[in-house]
Amino acid sequence: MDIKGKGSVLLLLVSTLVLCQNVSSSTCVPREKCEVMLQGLYNNASYLAWSIRFYGKKAYLDLVNLHYWRSTYFLPGRKRCHTADILPRHEHRRARRMQEKDLLHVVMLLLDSWKEPLPHVAEETHKLMKFYSPIKKKDESIYLRYQRFKSVIIEIASKLGLETSVQDFASWSDMESLKSSDDQTRLFTVYNLLRCFAIDAEKIEFLVYILKCLADNEDPC
Ligand SMILES: *[C@@H]1O[C@H](CO)[C@@H](O)[C@H](O)[C@H]1NC(C)=O
Ligand SMILES: *[C@@H]1O[C@H](CO)[C@@H](O)[C@H](O)[C@H]1NC(C)=O
Repeated sequence: MDIKGKGSVLLLLVSTLVLCQNVSSSTCVPREKCEVMLQGLYNNASYLAWSIRFYGKKAYLDLVNLHYWRSTYFLPGRKRCHTADILPRHEHRRARRMQEKDLLHVVMLLLDSWKEPLPHVAEETHKLMKFYSPIKKKDESIYLRYQRFKSVIIEIASKLGLETSVQDFASWSDMESLKSSDDQTRLFTVYNLLRCFAIDAEKIEFLVYILKCLADNEDPC
């Protein structure tokens, strides 16, 4: 076979590969098995996003309520969230016009920005709550829900043929104060991280709502 012949065989091979790739991943024809599966995944993602937001907010409020009689107690603990630049409130309107792949990217950014701190926050919250009230369940397993949610999001992305690895997630630098031997430093750090997580859980719930709405072809979202 001459060079040209080899070239066209290669081309055929490449285009077959591309064709197969499309069939196996990104083409989700309405009413077909893949579409039904995607709806199931979105339902699961919505439920998990709701429960993460619910228990995240609950953990935050439980902590605040420990000092409810002094409403300004935690004010000195308030600091800028490490994820503050990811979809700030004034950009919510813009999110409604974003495409699926960009919405999923923001969800992954938020998730990966919590990958490192969340298990530590959960652990410290658990210790704190156990100290005040021994019957509190282990932070209602926020971290477990987070992990389950993340795997559903990754599955959705793979069904849509989209990339999920993100490099530009927000880095976090509160480990030292979270593990501080000074009780108040630790308490304030847990407070701020729970506050930030509650804000981000709300963002995630909102993004999943739009994603599900786009998948259901509802207009407007
Ligand atoms: C595969 O999908 C991509 C993006 O959705 C598209 O640009 C491309 O033309 C498709 N290729 C084939 C062979 O259908
Ligand atoms: C949704 O979650 C349920 C319960 O965890 C599971 O049985 C089901 O397979 C999930 N659906 C999809 C499409 O993954």
